[in-house]
Amino acid sequence: MKELRIGLLGFGVVGRGVAELLLAQEKLLRERTGVALRLVRIATRTPERAQGVPLGAVQVSGAVHQVVTADDVDVVVEVMGGLEPARSLLLEALQRGKHVVTANKALIAMHGEELMRAAAVAGRDLLFEAAVAGAIPIIKVLRESLAANQIDQLYGILNGTCNYILTEMRERGSSFDQVLQDAQAKGFAEADPSFDVDGIDAAHKLAILAAIAFGSFPHFSQIHVEGIRHVSAVDITWASEMGYRIKLLGIAKQDAEGVELRVQPTLVPVTSMVASVEGVFNAVFVRGDAAGTTMYYGRGAGAGPTASAVVADLADLARNGGKEATQRVAGFSTLLECLSSHPVRETAEWRGEYYLRLAVADRPGVLAEVTTVLARQQISIDAIHQKGRSDVAAVPLIMVTHETTERQVRAALREMEGLDAVRETPRFIRIEPGFV
Ligand SMILES: NC(=O)c1ccc[n+]([C@@H]2O[C@H](COP(=O)([O-])OP(=O)(O)OC[C@H]3O[C@@H](n4cnc5c(N)ncnc54)[C@H](OP(=O)(O)O)[C@@H]3O)[C@@H](O)[C@H]2O)c1
Repeated sequence: MKELRIGLLGFGVVGRGVAELLLAQEKLLRERTGVALRLVRIATRTPERAQGVPLGAVQVSGAVHQVVTADDVDVVVEVMGGLEPARSLLLEALQRGKHVVTANKALIAMHGEELMRAAAVAGRDLLFEAAVAGAIPIIKVLRESLAANQIDQLYGILNGTCNYILTEMRERGSSFDQVLQDAQAKGFAEADPSFDVDGIDAAHKLAILAAIAFGSFPHFSQIHVEGIRHVSAVDITWASEMGYRIKLLGIAKQDAEGVELRVQPTLVPVTSMVASVEGVFNAVFVRGDAAGTTMYYGRGAGAGPTASAVVADLADLARNGGKEATQRVAGFSTLLECLSSHPVRETAEWRGEYYLRLAVADRPGVLAEVTTVLARQQISIDAIHQKGRSDVAAVPLIMVTHETTERQVRAALREMEGLDAVRETPRFIRIEPGFV
């Protein structure tokens, strides 16, 4: 029987999950692929972590470079994370004729072009299903199942930590800081949560999805990234009262004028499917010209879901014939020579409806001052909400605009901030009323 010999770099949450899954499903994988998927080496910074884990004859060491150069390794699985030394190790692995599987979204989002070109030169595969949305097979769907579609819109909940925080804020009526602390205590958020709550993790994933959907290399720097730190309990309550949920969405749109790439808190109708994705779950929605809109839902992180995606890539390699037959499917879906860059729309030119929140003095004439500013910027208002209370220094004034540009909204809020009656920096959140 043919075999595919695997070298694993990293033995943390995902690494251990991959090792355990490969060993537990050895027979099932052999019966499904006709190839023995054999874990031969593990290298990780702290090899002691593997003590007590039943790994059979697998060699465990701290020598990551040895895995990349070893003659008995056909495919290197990188689950260490970080840009270096992961990037250099994977480039060398490809040059030495090994396939590469990685769960490292940051690496693919930042160095995907360099790595994919190296894979092409070497005639080897670079697979990264686990880098986006964990167990959800969205990369395979985009590359293979939707191959006949021109995709004009893709959006989704790509970070389980943020979705969990926003869900808890709504259900408990708590502030961002309170919920974040609880999430850290329960292990749902990292000690340093910035990558998640500032939207960077979601943006890495969006860069990869947009590349595959629109036929370009990933361009992380082109994404407009906003996190959820400024979303307040007031926003969440008002959104609910007006029939919306607030979700941190990764959004990629393409039309004749270019692409729009953004990660930001977004109001979506409470009746939409995307609004019903709660807690740590992820979901991706893709609109293709032939298929229409399709939705993919599941667990976006964790040892089992992520290992499931890594091992699926290994099964694909095994089915492709291991060393002989490579690159059955182009890494970014489109052949390297046909990938192109698309003009990216300026944030200021995005058109849409907006939710605006001001904290204003509760006295006569304030509403008139605010609406005068909006009129000057030619922004028309769909709804205004205010609950007056004479016993507090400032009350929330909530407005929903008709379609306008972000340039006009920003200009209006800048002007409002200068008004005597406005007591805090005004905030705005994009609304996507058409999302399903
Ligand atoms: N966790 C998830 O649910 C998830 C989901 C999707 C994708 N991913 C991606 O998968 C990758 C791994 O994530 P993880 O959660 O498994 O991380 P993790 O638990 O921190 O594990 C990383 C492992 O790699 C080792 N390592 C890190 N840098 C190293 C270096 N320079 N040399 C040797 N070993 C090194 C670590 O060693 P020590 O044990 O000494 O720290 C640890 O064993 C990341 O790229 C992440 O973005 C994770």
